[in-house]
Amino acid sequence: MSKSVFVKTYGCQMNVYDSQRMQDVLAPLGYGVVDRPEDADLVILNTCHIREKAVEKVYSELGRYRDMKLARGGNMTIAVAGCVGQAEAHEITRRMKSVDLVFGPQTYHRLPELLKQRETTGLAVVETEFAVDDKFKGLATEQVRNPTSRSVTAFLTIQEGCDKFCTFCVVPYTRGAEFSREPAQIVEEAKKLADQGVRELTLLGQNVNAYHSGSATLASLITELSHISGIQRIRYMTSHPRDMSDDLIEAHGANPKLMPYLHLPIQSGSDRVLKAMNRGHTAADYLKLIERIRAAQPRMALTSDFIVGFPGENDSEFEDTLQLVRDVRYAAAYSFKYSPRPGTPAAERDDQVPEDVKNERLARLQTLITQQQAAFNHSCVGQTLSVLLEKPGRQNGQLIGRSPYLQSVHLEAPDHLLGSFVDAYILGVGPNSLSGQYTESEPTGGHCI
Ligand code: SAH
Ligand code: SF4
Ligand code: F3S
Repeated sequence: MSKSVFVKTYGCQMNVYDSQRMQDVLAPLGYGVVDRPEDADLVILNTCHIREKAVEKVYSELGRYRDMKLARGGNMTIAVAGCVGQAEAHEITRRMKSVDLVFGPQTYHRLPELLKQRETTGLAVVETEFAVDDKFKGLATEQVRNPTSRSVTAFLTIQEGCDKFCTFCVVPYTRGAEFSREPAQIVEEAKKLADQGVRELTLLGQNVNAYHSGSATLASLITELSHISGIQRIRYMTSHPRDMSDDLIEAHGANPKLMPYLHLPIQSGSDRVLKAMNRGHTAADYLKLIERIRAAQPRMALTSDFIVGFPGENDSEFEDTLQLVRDVRYAAAYSFKYSPRPGTPAAERDDQVPEDVKNERLARLQTLITQQQAAFNHSCVGQTLSVLLEKPGRQNGQLIGRSPYLQSVHLEAPDHLLGSFVDAYILGVGPNSLSGQYTESEPTGGHCI
């Protein structure tokens, strides 16, 4: 390899996918991947703009790279990719003179061209146009994966962008308008992944269940993907409650390859707050939806995202969120303090919630969620779950895999089973994982809850 690239990724799974694809685009130019910025000719920071903290991290990381570049007499190219690149390109080049390239989530397929432009002009290059269709056409359908990692799981972006404009969220501005990839292109990419040994696919999109292309829906795409030989498990995220269609709900009952696990963010349990967020549904609509999902697939584990301290949220509205969590019983959930984002409507409101109130609400919500998560995990003890073994554990003879519910499962098993499915009898619950015993008995169709 003549040159080296280091990519650091912040943010969501879509950024993880994009980082992988940036490496794919650079491979034909002779770039090999290294895992320390110190060793790299090209450093790419793939960034997230979702909350203020995420953005602060970017600038402090860029400061580190600037110092490295100085120490090497300027002999290093620094690129900022992703959602901060899209939203703050000019601020970045103004504040950080050491940055050579800035581009957004929709332009990274043009990296080779941008690098060349940088070289010939000697000026910082900013490329933040939206042309999403071009991007996927400009990418090969083959993900170049590290052959030594024997990775059996993969992300596959099928949908991008968002037209929903929740009043707190930057995604419609950073990722652009909603766009679905053609099914044939997705199937081709999935087949190549299966040929490389991938057994579990996670389909990605900011609004993945809004996927539609011609007559194809997410449900029909999942059916098609589940016929690919080698693909044993399919997941998808993130879904919006408004796009949870009947055929998708049915698929959860009908397709055993579709995992009984659904991330379905609601953000708040208060109708007034949901309306102010522009979510387009009420708490009762959501609860009814959950009921229909559980009727189709009684084993469904549900997870969500919550925002506490949205502008104007009062105590009783926050209590509505706690009540909704109690009503649903989640397997896990993420919760965040509302973070005002420049350019979004909610950031302009003058009824912002004080920081100490947000802190207190977050702590109460997280306590409840942690209890529910522990209860869910404990319900798995004594069950035999199917586990896809992904990697060696820290201890000798230990392997780590994932259950259908995305829990990490640690167990002792012979090395040659790495990359395959085993049945694991669940013995106990650790802080972030389950411990199990590998069994060769017939699958019992075990489940949690
Ligand atoms: N498309 C997904 C969410 C993408 S962003 C959806 O519609 O649910 C991931 C999560 O970040 C959101 O679900 C939300 O909980 C959180 N989030 C987004 N903007 C935020 C903000 N301004 N402050 C705090 N959390 C935010
Ligand atoms: Fe953001 Fe709302 Fe779109 Fe999700 S649906 S990405 S929260 S605007
Ligand atoms: Fe962050 Fe952009 Fe994803 S803002 S959450 S990296 S879409």
